[in-house]
Amino acid sequence: MRFSVNTALTVALGLVASTDALKILMGNDDGFGSGNLRELYKLLLDAGHEVLVVAPARGQSGKGSTVIWAETANLTTPSQYDIIPAGAPAVGRDPNNDNIWYYDGTPAACTFVALDFVLPRYYPDWNQTPDLFVSGPNYGTNLGAFVMGLSGTVGATFAAVSRSIPGIATSASNKAVPYFNVTSASDPAVLAAKVSFEVVNEFIQNTPEGQEILPLGYGVNVNIPELVNNTMPPVVKTRITGNANTDVAVYNETTGLFTWDNIDPLAAGINAAYNGDISLPGETWVVAGGGVSVSLFTLDFTAPSNKYTELVFDKVENLTSGSPSMNTTVYSKRMVEERMRKRGAMLTGRDGGA
Ligand SMILES: *[C@@H]1O[C@H](CO)[C@@H](O)[C@H](O)[C@H]1NC(C)=O
Ligand SMILES: *[C@@H]1O[C@H](CO)[C@@H](O)[C@H](O)[C@H]1NC(C)=O
Ligand SMILES: *[C@@H]1O[C@H](CO)[C@@H](O)[C@H](O)[C@H]1NC(C)=O
Ligand SMILES: *[C@@H]1O[C@H](CO)[C@@H](O)[C@H](O)[C@H]1NC(C)=O
Ligand SMILES: *[C@@H]1O[C@H](CO)[C@@H](O)[C@H](O)[C@H]1NC(C)=O
Ligand SMILES: *[C@@H]1O[C@H](CO)[C@@H](O)[C@H](O)[C@H]1NC(C)=O
Repeated sequence: MRFSVNTALTVALGLVASTDALKILMGNDDGFGSGNLRELYKLLLDAGHEVLVVAPARGQSGKGSTVIWAETANLTTPSQYDIIPAGAPAVGRDPNNDNIWYYDGTPAACTFVALDFVLPRYYPDWNQTPDLFVSGPNYGTNLGAFVMGLSGTVGATFAAVSRSIPGIATSASNKAVPYFNVTSASDPAVLAAKVSFEVVNEFIQNTPEGQEILPLGYGVNVNIPELVNNTMPPVVKTRITGNANTDVAVYNETTGLFTWDNIDPLAAGINAAYNGDISLPGETWVVAGGGVSVSLFTLDFTAPSNKYTELVFDKVENLTSGSPSMNTTVYSKRMVEERMRKRGAMLTGRDGGA
């Protein structure tokens, strides 16, 4: 299939009537000046949605889900690409676009600042509840559970999903480019954004009005291979395990320092497949083969109910069966009472039930 984003946009514009235009929050880890981010922002905006970006003031790759707040109220050094001068507030708007915000914290911190500061103060009609969170496209793929844990693009998405917002992380294979240097329609940033849009838009278009884009606690991890010949690659349903990488520590005898490399041969632990359809191909392999991978994840880290879990739980059976006072009914009742006392209500959004 050739790229036909104009057709896609026409279709999108035709289908997204103003009533089902979504409120979409965007983030990333490469910084608010990212060409990839800005191109996807434009496509979502052109499709008729309300789009707000709150992204790091500078590159924050590899920060995973860690939440690190700015340590000063004002920037001590200029932002990425000198878009914002030193001395300006650590959170604010892009001077050329009111709906593009920066914050000088990690990607996950940006998601929380978006939900708890930018939205309530400046976009009260959003009710702190975007319909969708979209991250990226990242410069470089984020494949397999280990890398997903490292990626700020995915971490910002985990933060959104944790707050009951459907989240889609997108990652591409192109190199960093500032948004103001993306001047050609064939720029890799434009192509990465188009492919991301095609996938994100499918989720939007195939969700009936009034329904959530994803079930509670679900997220999507989309990875895009290097794009050649202006062609839309095949899109493949994938799983997170399967030929996935993890790190190995590489020691340099001369410097006494460590660096990382992908472990080779692959580690079994990161590729142990228990959840979901284990006949699906691994996302790492699919992207290496030139496909776009679409993996689903949930924030439920709990091991599935199977013979292995049974075997492991059996080891603590005597301990756990010795605590009769803490049955789940009692425990969840205490949790709810505690929360009600602290906050007066369950949290906002869809917390409290699917
Ligand atoms: C931070 O910047 C704002 C606006 O530029 C300024 O009014 C304020 O005095 C600054 N605060 C500090 C602590 O420098
Ligand atoms: C943007 O493009 C200009 C002109 O090609 C180039 O000199 C500059 O290095 C680029 N900026 C970045 C940050 O890549
Ligand atoms: C891209 O196009 C060139 C020239 O037509 C062709 O030789 C090459 O095989 C194509 N590559 C892919 C991956 O389609
Ligand atoms: C170790 O570090 C030195 C100094 O940076 C470098 O020249 C050398 O190539 C490194 N060795 C390996 C095996 O990477
Ligand atoms: C549990 O306790 C019983 C009785 O003391 C003992 O026979 C059994 O080995 C224990 N099982 C485990 C898994 O610790
Ligand atoms: C759990 O505790 C509740 C409240 O004390 C009690 O009504 C219920 O029977 C208990 N359930 C089990 C399985 O022990």
